[in-house]
Amino acid sequence: MSLAISKTGCILGIETSCDETSAAILRDGGLASVVVSSQFFHDKFGGVVPELASRAHVRSMLPIVREAYSRAGITSKDLTAIAVTHAPGLMGSLLVGLNFAKGLSLGLDIPLVGIHHIEAHIFSALLEQERPELPFVALVVSGGHTLLILVNDVGSYEFLGETLDDAAGEAFDKVGKMLGMDYPAGPEIDRLAHEGNPAFVKFPRALMNEENFDFSFSGIKTSVLYWLKKQSGISVDMKKDIAASFQRAMVDILVTKTLRAAEANGITNIVCVGGVSANSELRERFKTECSHRGMLFFVPRPLFSTDNAAMIAMLGALKLASGKVSDLSLAAHPRLPLVHRPKIQ
Ligand code: KG4
Ligand code: ZN
Repeated sequence: MSLAISKTGCILGIETSCDETSAAILRDGGLASVVVSSQFFHDKFGGVVPELASRAHVRSMLPIVREAYSRAGITSKDLTAIAVTHAPGLMGSLLVGLNFAKGLSLGLDIPLVGIHHIEAHIFSALLEQERPELPFVALVVSGGHTLLILVNDVGSYEFLGETLDDAAGEAFDKVGKMLGMDYPAGPEIDRLAHEGNPAFVKFPRALMNEENFDFSFSGIKTSVLYWLKKQSGISVDMKKDIAASFQRAMVDILVTKTLRAAEANGITNIVCVGGVSANSELRERFKTECSHRGMLFFVPRPLFSTDNAAMIAMLGALKLASGKVSDLSLAAHPRLPLVHRPKIQ
C-alpha cells in the first residue's frame, strides 16, 4: 500500500531536539525549503553540552525560520500548520522549538502538530522520489537510538529489536574519540575507512547468531579500546585500518539483523534512516544485499538522514491528513519510546 501525501497546504517544520536548529517548508507534500544549522562548537567538548545547545537554539531559531520562508518564497501568512518535535531529546533544546511553535500557532491561529523525532526519521524516507510501500521494516540508527521496527501504517508499529546498550552512532562516536577524532566521528570514520583494510582486525559481531533482532555495541567498542591499548603508538595507516575494520563489523551486524528480521516477517521493503544511515558502506551493502534477495531498499539522502526539519514537516503532513493535531498543552518529553518491547508471557 502506498502512503498518500495529500494537499495539506504550507507546513512549517521545526526541529531542535539536539544540536541542530532546523526549519523547513513543505508545500502540498513537496519540499519547498529546508535550512539546517549545526552547532559545531560542541566538538571540542567531545559531546553535546545541553545548556549551550539550548542557548544556541534560542539565538538561531528566528533567523533559521525566516531563511526557510525566504527560500520557499513565502511569508508566515501563507502557513497552514506547524509541525514541531516535542520528544525525545534534550529538554532545554526541545523547549526552544516547542515554545516557538506554540507562539506562532497561537499568533497565526493555525494547527500545531507534535512530532516524535524517531517517528519523523522513519518517514524521512518519503522525502525522496522513490518511496517505500507499506508495510516496511525500518532500521533507525542514530546517535541515541538503534531500533528495528515493522511499520504497518503511520502510527501503527511493531517492535522487532533494539540495542541493549550503546546506540550505533554512539559506538561510531566513541571509537572515533579513541582514534583522536572530533565529535561526531561517524563521518570521519566513514571517510578514513575508504582508505583502510577492513580485514585488518576481526572485531566481534555481538548477538549475530541469536534468534532475536536485538543489537549490542558495547563489546565492539571495548575490543577497539583493548586493541589500541596494546599498541605502542598508532600510525595514520593503522588508524585507517581500524576505522575500516570497525565499520565493516558494524555494517555486517546492522545489515544481517535487519534483513533477517524482514525475512522472518515476510517484508520486502526495507528502510534505513537516522544519522548513521548516511554511512556510505552501510548504504552500499544494504543496496547489494537487498537486490540479491529481491527486496527494495530505501534510504534518504544524507541531508535527510541526519537531524532536519524536512522530516518533521513530512510527518506533520501525514498526521494532519488523518486529523491528528495537538493543542497548546503539548509537552516536551526527553524520553518517550515510540514502541515498547513486548512483554514475555
Ligand atoms: O540522527 P542524528 O543526526 O542525531 C541523533 O538523533 O542522534 O545522528 C547523529 C549520529 C552521530 O552519532 C554521528 O556520528 C552519526 O549519526 N553519523 C554517522 C555518519 N554521519 C553521521 N555515522 C556513520 N557514518 C556516517 N557517515
Ligand atoms: Zn535524530
